[in-house]
Amino acid sequence: MALMDPDASDDMIDHLVDFFDQIAPAYDGWAGGQHARVAARLVDLVKPKKGQRALDVGTGTGLVAHLVAAKVNPGLVIGIDLSDRMLSFARSKHGKNSQFLGMAAERLVFRPETFDLVTMGETLAYLADPGEALSEAHRVLKSGGRLAVSCQRRSLSTRAQDLFFQGLAPLARRHYLSLPRYSSERSRFGEPDVLPQLLESAGFDVNLLTEMVTGGRAQNAREWIEMMAGAGPLPYTLIKALGPRYRMELEAEVESAMDSLGDPDDAFRYHHSYLMAVATRR
Ligand SMILES: C[S@@+](CC[C@H](N)C(=O)[O-])C[C@H]1O[C@@H](n2cnc3c(N)ncnc32)[C@H](O)[C@@H]1O
Repeated sequence: MALMDPDASDDMIDHLVDFFDQIAPAYDGWAGGQHARVAARLVDLVKPKKGQRALDVGTGTGLVAHLVAAKVNPGLVIGIDLSDRMLSFARSKHGKNSQFLGMAAERLVFRPETFDLVTMGETLAYLADPGEALSEAHRVLKSGGRLAVSCQRRSLSTRAQDLFFQGLAPLARRHYLSLPRYSSERSRFGEPDVLPQLLESAGFDVNLLTEMVTGGRAQNAREWIEMMAGAGPLPYTLIKALGPRYRMELEAEVESAMDSLGDPDDAFRYHHSYLMAVATRR
């Protein structure tokens, strides 16, 4: 699998950072606090120890970083990200032993073998160059240091989600919107036959692999569309670009797509599933 994505252009990176800047205020509360639950599980699995030095890559609002900071205290956590707005929420949470810096995962400024632990919570599939970011994580980790990664497992999405996401590209075309996108290979990063291989080929031994499956059901098309807007840059940009009339049209289309699933139990149902790996630097 090619890790340097030919679609990782400056446009794509700007589009992605814009998306995270815009959703930053709603990030922690999205889907009933879903990201916080995923972060808590990842930190439970990696078991940070008192006094350790940790780096949280793509820290966002610092959900993982702050949990790690509480465990490693008096050790230190550094969180890095490209979205200023996400970082400003991370900083507002006031950790004594955490620092948040604007930096790309692919170009870390730290010396080799600086950290005991590197975390990447729901970040790998968004990075411009995931291979380079893993090799940077390897460089800054001490020998025997640990890497913890969570990645959405998209193959476990529901039929309702599949149907909705399949409809986005035609919807964009209908509204003459041309949006940058990563290649579809990214959507396989959270599969059990892909993530361990990515880590192994970056010089890590995978010690633990586990899954977290969450899900729920939206009440209606409006709630569904609002939630799906937070799911990624493409749905967000598209949905927010629609004026009230087209928005109502989309709601009607979503209602009828959900009806077409046949079983009312399938309608408006979503799964958010994650693969989590803890690995040791060779
Ligand atoms: C889905 S959020 C994850 C936030 C947090 N780790 C969590 O577990 O909730 C992904 C984050 O990766 C950041 N990001 C994307 N590309 C990046 C890059 N090349 N370098 C650093 N951060 C990046 C985004 O700005 C965003 O805040």
